[in-house]
Amino acid sequence: MKSINGPFPYQQLKPELSTQVWEAMPGSSAQPAAPASNLATGEAAAPRVEIRQMNATDLKNGLLETLSALGDVGLSYEEAVAVFQRRLRDKVLTYVMLVDGRVVGTASLVLEQKFLHQGGFVGHLEDVAIRKDLQNRGIGAALIKTLLAESQRLGCYKVVLQCVPDRMPFYERAGFREWTKSMRIDFNSN
Ligand SMILES: CC(C)(COP(=O)(O)OP(=O)(O)OC[C@H]1O[C@@H](n2cnc3c(N)ncnc32)[C@H](O)[C@@H]1OP(=O)(O)O)[C@@H](O)C(=O)NCCC(=O)NCCS
Repeated sequence: MKSINGPFPYQQLKPELSTQVWEAMPGSSAQPAAPASNLATGEAAAPRVEIRQMNATDLKNGLLETLSALGDVGLSYEEAVAVFQRRLRDKVLTYVMLVDGRVVGTASLVLEQKFLHQGGFVGHLEDVAIRKDLQNRGIGAALIKTLLAESQRLGCYKVVLQCVPDRMPFYERAGFREWTKSMRIDFNSN
């Protein structure tokens, strides 16, 4: 399975993302307050934005912090590396969006091959999280758009997800429609 490593079309993000992302970066006080300017033209350079499958380095580069927007991660770095290796074996695809090298958003795609639909694949969209201080700037929409394109490229005939009702408008804007109710049983609540 190929990863997508090409540069992300920055134009798809809201224009104000540039400086806001830069200023919110941990350690940004050590950096210039605005993106470096292009010496030739004097114009501010756009931040480097990319979406790709994660690698282990991302665990120390903002991924665990980004996931905390969803809930407690509760893993040490070493434990998280072991989980990442198991996810790779199980074909759980974890994508990250990076801005100037730092993780600002993540979403995962689990591929399930059915007996139905002539053995077709369903994509399960999981663990969509944008850094708390960078939400509502178009990052989630850009990630979802990329994962949907990736699901189609990988041959999925549909993509499904579960979410609480107040997140539905976000997914509806990305093209999803309400489809069914979900149910759960919790074991061991500790
Ligand atoms: C929900 C979440 C992924 C959205 O990502 P985001 O980067 O903040 O959202 P975007 O800026 O890309 O929003 C895209 C559109 O959805 C809308 N939207 C975003 N979050 C919304 C919400 N909670 N309720 C209603 N609309 C929402 C935005 O207003 C925007 O609409 P527009 O296109 O008309 O401007 C992000 O806020 C997040 O990580 N939340 C915490 C974790 C979480 O709930 N994850 C989802 C689990 S199912």
